[in-house]
Amino acid sequence: MESVNLAIIYYSATGTVHALARAAAEGAEKAGANVRLRKVAETAPPEAINANPAWGQHIQDTADVVQAGLDDLEWADAVLFGTPTRFGNPASQLRAFIDTTGPLWFQGLLANKVYSAFTASNTAHGGQESTILALGNTFYHWGGIIVPPGYTDPIQFQSGNPYGTSHVAGDGAPGDVPLDAARYQARRIVDTAASLKAGRAA
Ligand SMILES: Cc1cc2nc3c(=O)[nH]c(=O)nc-3n(C[C@H](O)[C@H](O)[C@H](O)COP(=O)(O)O)c2cc1C
Repeated sequence: MESVNLAIIYYSATGTVHALARAAAEGAEKAGANVRLRKVAETAPPEAINANPAWGQHIQDTADVVQAGLDDLEWADAVLFGTPTRFGNPASQLRAFIDTTGPLWFQGLLANKVYSAFTASNTAHGGQESTILALGNTFYHWGGIIVPPGYTDPIQFQSGNPYGTSHVAGDGAPGDVPLDAARYQARRIVDTAASLKAGRAA
């Protein structure tokens, strides 16, 4: 059986979501997937970026990460999206990428793939669930198969977010629990996509 193709498409200004994305990539590779880790294009003006040294630094640190393209979505059997919470919603940078997907959607090329999402916010009640649920609205339009982590693994009882991996960035960089949750979430969507792929091939 051919391996599952997983695209991890994320935006991160200061590195938190990037750390979760990298952990997800590790989990997916361990589960046997072909993984493309892709950042979306930065759309913020230089004045905004320069006002926050951590933002500029993260852009430099991730200069080698390939930028997401529509071909990554087309290639993927499963897509994991990562975004910081912005006023309870996904970041506009990720939305800007999503808003270029019309031609794929129109051809039905985004349907029947497995989708899931993860996030970070500054505070515990700052909108992690609303951000992941907002991305879910798009997955419905695409005819996607939404696979949340739920409480399907012991790590989920520690991380505590059944909607998707999340981290409170105000507490510092993600530690073992959110990183393991990201690894688990990726494994779960790879396993689900593998079952679907095998079923379709049969
Ligand atoms: C414009 C803006 C809006 C934000 N809105 C929220 C919010 O609604 N709730 C919250 O807890 N944090 C909010 N934050 C904080 C970010 O979610 C936090 O910095 C981010 O999760 C860190 O992820 P990153 O390091 O990957 O960029 C906001 C930050 C910015 C710049």
